[in-house]
Amino acid sequence: MNNNILSFKENFTNTKDSKSFYIKKISLKNFRNHKNLNLNLKNSSILIYGGNGSGKTNILEAISLLNQGKGLRKANIENFLNQEKICDNSLKTWGINVDFVSPNGKFNIGTGLKKTGTNKSRIAKLNSNYTPLSSLGEILNISWITPQLCVLILSSMNEKRRFIDRLTMSIDSLHLNRVYKYDKLFRQRNKILMQPNSDEKWLDTIESQISELSVAIIARRLDLLEELENLYKIEFKNNHLTKHFPAVSIIINGKIEKLLEEKPALEVEDYVKSELKKSRFNYDLFVPGPNNSLIEIFNRIDNKNLDISSTGEQKLILISIILSHARLLNDKFNMAPILLLDDIIEHLDNKHRKALFLEVSRHNAQSWFTSTSKDAFAGYPSFIDKINLQNIKENFDGNYHFRYGDI
Ligand SMILES: Nc1ncnc2c1ncn2[C@@H]1O[C@H](COP(=O)(O)OP(=O)(O)O)[C@@H](O)[C@H]1O
Ligand SMILES: [Mg+2]
Repeated sequence: MNNNILSFKENFTNTKDSKSFYIKKISLKNFRNHKNLNLNLKNSSILIYGGNGSGKTNILEAISLLNQGKGLRKANIENFLNQEKICDNSLKTWGINVDFVSPNGKFNIGTGLKKTGTNKSRIAKLNSNYTPLSSLGEILNISWITPQLCVLILSSMNEKRRFIDRLTMSIDSLHLNRVYKYDKLFRQRNKILMQPNSDEKWLDTIESQISELSVAIIARRLDLLEELENLYKIEFKNNHLTKHFPAVSIIINGKIEKLLEEKPALEVEDYVKSELKKSRFNYDLFVPGPNNSLIEIFNRIDNKNLDISSTGEQKLILISIILSHARLLNDKFNMAPILLLDDIIEHLDNKHRKALFLEVSRHNAQSWFTSTSKDAFAGYPSFIDKINLQNIKENFDGNYHFRYGDI
């Protein structure tokens, strides 16, 4: 292997921006277009650059799978498998392995595809021991923003809810489990209702669980929004608001949300249960639940709704949410999230680019940027490790070791 990959530039002195939460090593095996990629990193921010299709987003997607969920592309587990290996039965699996460092210690996290018979599932390991995917959120949090996410959030209320659910997962690692279980039970209930003689007792049990989950999911979302609201008040009072990214307010409206303001959770559960029972054979009846909540996102400065903002403004608003959520996790829970910023810099004007760089360089966890070129990052205010992906794959056999300076 070429030696200069490990060469040092002695004049490098800037260590004050080093991060407390960072990925020290990441290995991808048969993951999308990366058959074998190994990156050894430092506790600094990272830029992955290279031409279109070189696999930049795929790396960020792999990192997004270090939390529960379908990752930043919302893909199915089979789609991650490198297509070129598909003919070779013994290699029909993919995997991601990461050494993660935080003030709580060093962890090895692995996730990948497991097949048992015809069943395929994503499994996780923590320090070589199997662990539920939901427990990864106790070790590290991942947060991301991509151009596709901006479009999706605007196009559907369901995507807005999923966005809020992902943010909520970082204050309660079981939140997504509840969301998945709720959806599964609801589908089960519909199936039972389709049968000619529905089992009433079974329906009672399922509806009782659905009611509990409905209230728990909505209550946790409201908790997150309250935490964000409190953070805003503190930052406003202390004059700590970021100038260039508009402060945002998020409102959730729904029947259960309203009732939770006035009644104890148990009473609200009983109400949901009775509504579900009423709606059993009346499909037109509205069933209150977390999939009916209406989410509205406002710019606090001009009180403009996200939906009617310009595409440029919408990006700033979403960046603002991700950044304030990151500050919340850092300040209140002492756990800064790894930020994944896919193709974001190109879409910002100079002023906002600088502001984002400044925010991110102060952020206490590693941030990952992607770009087609490194030029826009020349003015980055602290050290950023610039990784030329094409060069790593072509000349270094997919192995990259951190070094000061460019290859
Ligand atoms: N399962 C897969 N197996 C092999 N290649 C894949 C798979 N999924 C996606 N790719 C390819 O990976 C390449 C890189 O994708 P991406 O990471 O989005 O590129 P970039 O972000 O650098 O533009 C694309 O050419 C895409 O077709
Ligand atoms: Mg990309």
